[in-house]
Amino acid sequence: MKALGVAVLGAGDMGNTHLAAWSKVESVRLLGVTDVDARRTQAAAEKHGVERWFTNLEEGLAQDGVDVVSVCLPSYLHRAASVAAMEAGKDVLCEKPISLTVEDAQAMIACRDRTGRTLGIAFCKRHLAQLAQLREWLAEGVVGRPVMYRMSGGLEIRFKPWIMDRSMGGGPIVDLCCHYFDQWRWLFDAEPVRVMAMGMTFASGAEELPGVDFQTDTAALCVEYGSGDVGTISLSWGLPRGTSAPGPEQVLGPRGVVTLEGFKGLRLARKGGQEESLADLDADLYGNQAAAFARAVREGTPPVTGAEDGLAALRVSLAVLESIETGRAVEPA
Ligand SMILES: NC(=O)c1ccc[n+]([C@@H]2O[C@H](COP(=O)([O-])OP(=O)(O)OC[C@H]3O[C@@H](n4cnc5c(N)ncnc54)[C@H](O)[C@@H]3O)[C@@H](O)[C@H]2O)c1
Repeated sequence: MKALGVAVLGAGDMGNTHLAAWSKVESVRLLGVTDVDARRTQAAAEKHGVERWFTNLEEGLAQDGVDVVSVCLPSYLHRAASVAAMEAGKDVLCEKPISLTVEDAQAMIACRDRTGRTLGIAFCKRHLAQLAQLREWLAEGVVGRPVMYRMSGGLEIRFKPWIMDRSMGGGPIVDLCCHYFDQWRWLFDAEPVRVMAMGMTFASGAEELPGVDFQTDTAALCVEYGSGDVGTISLSWGLPRGTSAPGPEQVLGPRGVVTLEGFKGLRLARKGGQEESLADLDADLYGNQAAAFARAVREGTPPVTGAEDGLAALRVSLAVLESIETGRAVEPA
C-alpha cells in the first residue's frame, strides 16, 4: 500500500491530537506540521517524529508529497486553510466547527466540488463505539420513541481567548454544541425542525481575557427533530475560575433511560428496575477518525462526516444564537 503523506496545520491541542492519531494509522508518513508559534511547532514535530516543520501556511502546503492535510487551526481560519489546501490538490480533514458562517461553509463546499477533493469535518464523536451502540438501541426502540437526550455541564471561562470570541471561535454554542447537533441528526436519523433557546454571557468583561468580544457562553437550549425526538443542553463556559458544574448525559424515553458514562460506558435502565451495562467500549475516537479518513481517501468514498454535516450542525448553532437574540423559536433552515 502506498504511504499517505500527511501534514497538519496547527500545533496546538488538536494539532498534537491529530499527529498522535495519524501516527497510529497504517502506511502514513507524517511529513509536516505548521504553526505560527515556532517553539510549539518544533516541539510537536519532535514529539511525533514529523519530518519537517514550518511557521507559515503557504510553506506548509507547498511541501512535496503531501496527500492529506489536517486543519487544526482556530475556527475562523478553517475556510482559508481548507480552501488553500484543496486548491493545492490535497484532501482535507478539517476540525469542527466547519466554520463560523454559512457563507464560509458554502465556499468550502464549492471549492471541494470544483477541485474534486475529499473534505471531511472532524466530528470525532461519530467514531465512538458508545454512540454507535446507542444509535442501534434507539433504532430498536429499547427505551421507546420519541426520546429526550439531555446534556448539561459547566466549565470555568475557557483559557483560549479565541474560542470565546464571537468572530474567532463562536463560544460554546458554535464550538462545543456542534458535536451534539451533529450526533443528534445521526442518532435520531432525522433533521432538526425547531430550536428554542435562552442565553447569557457570564464572562462579559472578564479581566482574565481582556479584549475578547464574548459570544454567548451560557445557554439553555432545545432542538426538536422531525422524528419527534428532542435534544436539550444546559451549559456554561463562563463560570469563575476554579469552579465547574459537571452534569449527567442521558437519553430519556417512555420505556427507560440510557445513561452515558464518559466515552466508554452505557447504562440502560428499564421498567421494574432492570439494568444492563456496557463498559470499556472502544473510545479511540481520534485514532478511528484518522483511520476512517485515510480509508475514504484511498477508496475514493465519502468521509464519515463531510462538509454537509458540518453545515447542518452550524445551521443549528446559528439558529440557537438567533433564538437567544429574538426570544423566538427558529427553524434551522
Ligand atoms: N474535535 C474535538 O474534540 C476538538 C477539541 C478541541 C478543539 N477542536 C477544534 O480544533 C480547532 C483547534 O483548536 P485547538 O484547541 O487545537 O486550539 P489551540 O489554540 O490549542 O491551537 C491552535 C493553534 O493554531 C495556531 N495558529 C493560530 N493562527 C495561526 C495562523 N494564522 N497560522 C498558523 N497557525 C496559527 C496557534 O498558534 C495554535 O498553536 C478549533 O477549530 C477547535 O474548535 C476540536
